[in-house]
Amino acid sequence: MTLQSRPPIGPVVLEIDDIHTYYGNIHALQGVSMNVREHEIVTLLGSNGAGKSTTLRTISGILRPRTGSVTLRGKRIDNVAAHDIVRMGVCQSPEGRHVFPRLTVDENLDMGAFIHSDAQVADDRNRVLTLFPRLRERLKQRAGTLSGGEQQMLAIARAMMGRPTVLLLDEPSMGLSPLLTDVIFDAIKEINATGVTVVVVEQNAQLALSIADRGYVMQTGRIVLTDSAAALTQNETVRKAYLGEG
Ligand SMILES: Nc1ncnc2c1ncn2[C@@H]1O[C@H](COP(=O)(O)OP(=O)(O)OP(=O)(O)O)[C@@H](O)[C@H]1O
Ligand SMILES: [Mg+2]
Repeated sequence: MTLQSRPPIGPVVLEIDDIHTYYGNIHALQGVSMNVREHEIVTLLGSNGAGKSTTLRTISGILRPRTGSVTLRGKRIDNVAAHDIVRMGVCQSPEGRHVFPRLTVDENLDMGAFIHSDAQVADDRNRVLTLFPRLRERLKQRAGTLSGGEQQMLAIARAMMGRPTVLLLDEPSMGLSPLLTDVIFDAIKEINATGVTVVVVEQNAQLALSIADRGYVMQTGRIVLTDSAAALTQNETVRKAYLGEG
């Protein structure tokens, strides 16, 4: 498939302002602020336990911030139910993939399309199967029997069935071979080129920075650094902590 040219970066679509999110007494997010512009790829980096997944879960409404706000195109969503946030165009591929193992590939895609019942669902399905031809060959296979890479494809494809304008990806390269990681990241670039804004959490900082426009670096529940992806790649702290140097 040929790569389309990317649409231009637009205004801020997603704004997170000073959110504090807890798990019981654990103060996981301690005043996180970030923004994402239309058509951007923004990456969220940080070591284990920094709060990256918690940030994505707070955006997608799985968790509620105790204070602070999440705003989508000017509308507060930090009090909106998770399934309504999906309806508003924010879809997430979760860490660890979490496909429905007993359902087939096809049925998993149906689950992703739960908010839509129009004729366009067939087109959506065709589009994600063109993006991931391996899934087309395995439509009737139970998701639990797919390889890790195929499950990651399915998790992203399922999220795409919700017709996101903002796609949240949590650790898409986790546990994958370099070859499959490339397949996944090419697909992310392709999805972005069709006009979908992407927020990607990654342990593989180099890879994430290679496709991102901008990045945020988290440490113990706080954003400690933000810059263009190009500048972060050159940043000494980032190079030492996340790019395996020093
Ligand atoms: N369900 C939970 N219950 C209690 N504490 C949690 C829960 N999930 C996460 N935490 C805690 O919140 C903090 C942030 O976790 P989070 O999963 O957001 O980190 P992360 O940056 O995604 O890490 P990783 O790179 O390991 O996925 C950690 O201290 C973690 O132990
Ligand atoms: Mg995580």
